Amino acid sequence: MTATQSQNTGDIVIIGASHAGVQMAVSLREADFEGSITLISDDPQTPYHRPPLSKAFLKDENHGIQVLRAEQYFDDNNIRLIKPVRAVQIDKENGVVMLDNGQSLEYWKLIIATGARPRSIDIPGIDSDEICQLRDYNDAQLLRKAARSGKKVVIVGGGFIGLEAAATLKYLGMDVCVVEAAPRLMGRVVAPQISQFVLEKFQSMGIKVFLDTPISQIETENRKVSGVICGNQKFSADIVLIGIGVIPNDELAKEAGLKTENGIVVDAHFQTSADNIYAIGDVCVYEHWLTGTRIRLESVQNATDQAKNLADTLTGNPQAYRAVPWFWSDQGDMKIQMVGLSHNSKTLVTRQNPQRASLSAFHYDENGRLIAIDTINSPADHMAGRKLIEAGISPTAEQAADADFRIKSLLV
Ligand code: APR
Repeated sequence: MTATQSQNTGDIVIIGASHAGVQMAVSLREADFEGSITLISDDPQTPYHRPPLSKAFLKDENHGIQVLRAEQYFDDNNIRLIKPVRAVQIDKENGVVMLDNGQSLEYWKLIIATGARPRSIDIPGIDSDEICQLRDYNDAQLLRKAARSGKKVVIVGGGFIGLEAAATLKYLGMDVCVVEAAPRLMGRVVAPQISQFVLEKFQSMGIKVFLDTPISQIETENRKVSGVICGNQKFSADIVLIGIGVIPNDELAKEAGLKTENGIVVDAHFQTSADNIYAIGDVCVYEHWLTGTRIRLESVQNATDQAKNLADTLTGNPQAYRAVPWFWSDQGDMKIQMVGLSHNSKTLVTRQNPQRASLSAFHYDENGRLIAIDTINSPADHMAGRKLIEAGISPTAEQAADADFRIKSLLV
């Protein structure tokens, strides 16, 4: 650190201007950081909220993007937002980032918040027309244009993106079919009872769902999609949406010699294996205080809370990162919310309230400790769960199973 680069000055460069990158810039200014902040975005739009893209934005052609901060905010707060520009190389020895417009930027601290991109699949026909993904504004706009009442859409992947889009496209009058490789929906993140509830709800909405059905080929006529082939089954389609997970954008870090492992490996303060370089959000892998193992989380909460924590560290106020992870997915009239991490789930207890069409699944570890709650239409259980897990308080199995027992009452 030189005389001009103290904890409240210096040049900070942030690569990536989505939830993590933008929050990083905002939190630095809120923590009275007085140095320069440059935010590099490869998206031409003013940075925006991603969750509405598969819901409100897709549903209504007059719905604009919801910006994270107005363009004016960046000017007013002396945050240099440059777009559309990509960082193409990091020279960590000299503390410089090279951009694809030929410029280079020196940094005191570099924050990599490059997120993740949709996983692609190498099958025949994948490069035909009318095949969509759903991650950014451009993807959502293409899908919105292609969506037409009466048309057939096959959605590949019954995870968050696939199911949110399925509910929205059904609402728009499309004929919707979901093909999922695994034996249940959202198997990566929720309890089997939640998967079953969602499956039945989708079927009651007239959405066809096929489990244990991995895609093997896209069938085309004159380059246009005509169907999806899964083994010996064929599903006819006018449009195909692929939502089979995301992969971290960690190549820039890897090429610079930073340690990566399905994401950029960071320590408890989000520092990478290189001095003065940090990573936050969907792209980083870290040892989580709840599981004791190295994981990569994909969520808005994770991105924003990590950014706030790192801004505190860089402005001289380091805090242990102990945020309780939470996630949500709105699918039609189902509000699915998850809190905690269920990786070490050994016992599951469910409660159901048929009047409210709600279901909660409580995950306990081998020591009987509450580690996660997955809920459908039960925001009270979800909100109380955030506080219970943070405080290390576990309802008994009887309390968890009783839909009339308010778990909030355990918080004194
Ligand atoms: N054929 C069919 N289904 C497949 C295939 C395949 N070849 N490969 C994977 N799948 C299924 C998986 O079994 C899983 O259920 O695709 C689903 C992908 O679900 P997610 O992992 O939840 O990923 P996705 O829905 O793409 O969402 C990615 O975007 O909403 C954000 O951050 C959120 O983590 C989420 C991310």
